[in-house]
Amino acid sequence: MHVTHLSLADFRSYERAEVSLGPGVTTFVGPNGQGKTNLVEAVGYLASLGSHRVSSDAPLVRMGAQRAVVRALVRQGDRQQLVELELNPGKANRARINRSSQVKPRDVLGIVRTVLFAPEDLSLVKGDPGERRGFLDELVTARSPRMAGVRSDYDRVLKQRNSLLKSAVMARRYGGRPGTPSATKSAGADTSTLDVWDEHLARVGAELLARRLELISALRPLADKAYERLAPGGGPVGLEYKGAPADGSRGGLDADGRGAAVSPAELYDGLLAALRDSRRAEMERGVTLVGPHRDDLVLKLGELPAKGYASHGESWSLALSLRLASYELLKSEGNEPVLVLDDVFAELDVQRRARLAELVASGEQVLVTAAVPEDVPEVLAGARFCVAGGEVVAE
Ligand SMILES: Nc1ncnc2c1ncn2[C@@H]1O[C@H](COP(=O)(O)OP(=O)(O)O)[C@@H](O)[C@H]1O
Ligand SMILES: [Mg+2]
Repeated sequence: MHVTHLSLADFRSYERAEVSLGPGVTTFVGPNGQGKTNLVEAVGYLASLGSHRVSSDAPLVRMGAQRAVVRALVRQGDRQQLVELELNPGKANRARINRSSQVKPRDVLGIVRTVLFAPEDLSLVKGDPGERRGFLDELVTARSPRMAGVRSDYDRVLKQRNSLLKSAVMARRYGGRPGTPSATKSAGADTSTLDVWDEHLARVGAELLARRLELISALRPLADKAYERLAPGGGPVGLEYKGAPADGSRGGLDADGRGAAVSPAELYDGLLAALRDSRRAEMERGVTLVGPHRDDLVLKLGELPAKGYASHGESWSLALSLRLASYELLKSEGNEPVLVLDDVFAELDVQRRARLAELVASGEQVLVTAAVPEDVPEVLAGARFCVAGGEVVAE
């Protein structure tokens, strides 16, 4: 698919912007701070209902405005759709598809698809597990928009289970003298309610876990291949899931975190057992200590984990490989995503730049941003816009 027109109103620094786009490569060039990333961030928002830079919507609305609107005309084959999102921080966002407002924002997922490369990607390798979980879950949702609902169910169940744990901790610390009938009764009630929440968490968690594991086994060969093309001889790349039921002693992931063939039912049993095992510690600390929200994706180069061992250049190659693998995967599943390369060439040495450019040049639509045109390799010559002073002007 590709975007043929992008309209913004009160999004980030733009009071208004209208940008007509073609297939192939389009480059946005302009000094820093002029609004290049803001443009591609808007495209990314339509694809994921979130920004790659901030976790809330408020900064996306132009300072002083009440709401922002992002609208795109999208072409997939010979089909054209108009998608529109209105961002209302603090209130419900609204969506329209082909001018119909009988839709929810989540219904928009899947119309615009993107794979975004950004300077922040280095934290996929060097950052906390949360970065990698976010990477997995965003891709899980891009492959299957229905999973947006599962993810928010999981977050909701986790929040409720955590507040129950917290109140159990408080009750034990401060409520009633031990051994009094009321203290015993309330502790008993809490435990049986927790059992129910364990089951909810394990059920929704197992569904998310199954999707993550399936995704990782699909990505593994693609990431390895991408790495070999970016940095020949530097691999192989290893992707291993590290999760709660991963100790190999019962149903769940096997010891090296592969577990692609593990069924959701086995994952459920494993997760439930892990929750039961950590109950005592959780009752001490008042938070849920096992589950997909604590897991990690371990990235390896050869035998070594990348985090803490890989050089800066290797880390970059690995991060780019994950994005390239995401692109190949989505493309192989039928609807080619828009490739967005936000200011990445400036981060790379000449050789990585050239290899990356070659790998993305033939994409259906490639949006590139750069402060100076010299940073963008020749093979990515295409349409060009200048971004400065709040204006996006075709060259
Ligand atoms: N909500 C907002 N309202 C007004 N201006 C904003 C808002 N969010 C970001 N900006 C401005 O946008 C500019 C950054 O734009 P950005 O697209 O990141 O620049 P670049 O061209 O370097 O990629 C900054 O000057 C910032 O102050
Ligand atoms: Mg930028």
